[in-house]
Amino acid sequence: MTSVAVIGAQWGDEGKGSVIARLGPQADMVVRYNGGGNSGHKSGIEGVYFNIVPSGLLYPHIQNVIGPGVVYSPPELISEVGRHISRGLNTDNLHLSEDTSVTMPYHLVLELLEELDAPPEFQIGTTRKAIGPTIQDFHGRRHDIRTRDLLNKDELAMKLRYIVPRKNAQIKMYQELVEQARNGKPLNGDEQMEKALETKPFDADQMTEEYYGYGRRLQEFMRIVDTVPIVYDTLRRDDNVIFEGAQGTMLDVRFGVSPYVTSSPTISAAVGLTGGVGMKVDHVLGVVKTYSTRVGNGPMETEMHNETERRIREVADEKGTTTGRQRRIGWLHAPLLGRSQQLNRFDGIAIVGLNVLAGLPELKIYTGDSEMSYDSMDTWPELDIESIKRGGYAALPKKAQDYVMAMTTFMDDVPVDMIALGFHPDETLVLRDVFAKK
Ligand code: IMP
Repeated sequence: MTSVAVIGAQWGDEGKGSVIARLGPQADMVVRYNGGGNSGHKSGIEGVYFNIVPSGLLYPHIQNVIGPGVVYSPPELISEVGRHISRGLNTDNLHLSEDTSVTMPYHLVLELLEELDAPPEFQIGTTRKAIGPTIQDFHGRRHDIRTRDLLNKDELAMKLRYIVPRKNAQIKMYQELVEQARNGKPLNGDEQMEKALETKPFDADQMTEEYYGYGRRLQEFMRIVDTVPIVYDTLRRDDNVIFEGAQGTMLDVRFGVSPYVTSSPTISAAVGLTGGVGMKVDHVLGVVKTYSTRVGNGPMETEMHNETERRIREVADEKGTTTGRQRRIGWLHAPLLGRSQQLNRFDGIAIVGLNVLAGLPELKIYTGDSEMSYDSMDTWPELDIESIKRGGYAALPKKAQDYVMAMTTFMDDVPVDMIALGFHPDETLVLRDVFAKK
């Protein structure tokens, strides 16, 4: 059996979706196991991106699993599936774990109010998908709604009659705190926040009707099952399974800079923990972008505000796939890559973004040797994709090879499995077969 975990090495948005699109023809199953609608995985094919649904949906031969560690909002998942179907993708092979935790309307309101209530240094700049409050309730246990509850109206009603009054009380408390603090001052035209402040108490029975309806609707598009035996049997059959990580290492709930992190684990160890597949993954593939980007608040030592930043933004369309927010852009951060290697123990890496750096007027790597110290690197001309695909690594411009070498040096000389030469999945230089038996 060969299982490959695809893990973001930086702050997310490294190009995991496109790497999976590149590996897709060889894969039999793709499993999402963490995060939720906060992630946006671009395939590299115009207009095709995934939020909650695994990127394997791109290929009709792949079995796709939304595993137990994913959290999601049912109307969002229904709308995402509708988007894929309207593009001609089919959901016959889509499975949703009955153990997934469900984002409810009160989570969405509470996430906004918690952010509004927080002093600036505690504002996270979340994607507003309420992943945090949903996972808080999962860990808190008593207020956790699982997908299987959506299929049992009596159970759902019983739970919501207990939970909803408590959420209403919490919402009221935050509304009062925020109103007191802002003392009539406007909210800079943030309509979502305004709405959260005006939200009326939720009705448990009405919510039961609505969410039971979503459960039935989801069943029309996917199989709601215990996904553990399905993944286990696929691994036992010796098929190729990809575990599709969401976000990146530096957003890990424990190892990122708190509180500017997401609420799930994002490091490679999360595969077993939240996917329910045991500890063993045959190949941990880190996806590393040739420069840094970050969305949301929190420290970013190499952030730039200059012409180079604008150029990278333009070439690589650096805005959030989920939120449309502008991504912050900076030079490659070498110490961060070293830490990423320690936290994930990558067996190999996929490098993304060499094409983006081609022809830049300047190129630097932050080495952190002393205060704000950078190594200057030479840039290379635009990549001739077809000739590099034919000629292999040796056909990469020498300066680009030097850059790749520098990246791996900071990561304990990790081998390079593949290099993205462009944005489209066909534009790939494959150096090692990640599915090869070891
Ligand atoms: P949350 O996951 O929505 O709670 O957001 C927490 C932090 O993680 C914020 O800084 C978000 O911008 C960031 N974040 C969450 N998901 C992604 C992603 O898929 N790519 C990049 N950043 C993300």
